[in-house]
Amino acid sequence: MTHPCQYSRELFPVLRAELVDARRVLDPFAGVGNFLAVVPDGADAVGVEIEPEWAAARPEVICGDSHHLVDMFGPASFDAVVSSPVYPNGCADNFRPGTPGRRYTYRAALGGRPLSDGSMAGCGRGLNRRHNDGHRAIAAEVAVVLRPGGRLVWNVKDVHLAGEVVPVVGWWADVWQELGLVEVRRHVVPCPGIRHGANRDARADTETVLVFDRPAVTT
Ligand SMILES: C[S@@+](CC[C@H](N)C(=O)[O-])C[C@H]1O[C@@H](n2cnc3c(N)ncnc32)[C@H](O)[C@@H]1O
Repeated sequence: MTHPCQYSRELFPVLRAELVDARRVLDPFAGVGNFLAVVPDGADAVGVEIEPEWAAARPEVICGDSHHLVDMFGPASFDAVVSSPVYPNGCADNFRPGTPGRRYTYRAALGGRPLSDGSMAGCGRGLNRRHNDGHRAIAAEVAVVLRPGGRLVWNVKDVHLAGEVVPVVGWWADVWQELGLVEVRRHVVPCPGIRHGANRDARADTETVLVFDRPAVTT
């Protein structure tokens, strides 16, 4: 089944280079499993995706809710986590198909059925409480299942709403820092992207890849 918000292909070389040493890799917002294209040869890879139609695309993707990663995998289970969370733009509107101007949503891509309980994909626009609390809770789980010394590779982008830039990239960088991870670098990658809706000409043609490490434990 078609997924409306897949990784831009321009990101692949950057993601692949940042994961080169990983032997066990998690994508907690796995969609249709495109992260498998950037995992090193021979590495174990597991994705978690809440919507069964999308999880079914690849056997490496488990259908589940990433609010429960620690229960699913246990602490320090992964060398690396790579993902692209839900961006708080029009795609995250929780409208049925056919609503004027609301065609390009996660829900519409699922034929209009309600999103699964726990999904962040209906969080709506902007850095609202639902977006922030839900993503922070999942980030806290990620920080535990990532092993000390492990690497986080996080694809995000700022959102344009009514002519204003919503600083999604900075919000995520603060979340990882508050969880004790340390920023290594950030890549700004030119991506033409998908252009829909009223803001299509205002949007940036770049996406950001944040690279953080979980500090190794020292004795
Ligand atoms: C930006 S998309 C990721 C797309 C993916 N990178 C790809 O290329 O296919 C975010 C995905 O996270 C899923 N998702 C939202 N909330 C989730 C949750 N609590 N647990 C697991 N997956 C979730 C959505 O259904 C959506 O498929």
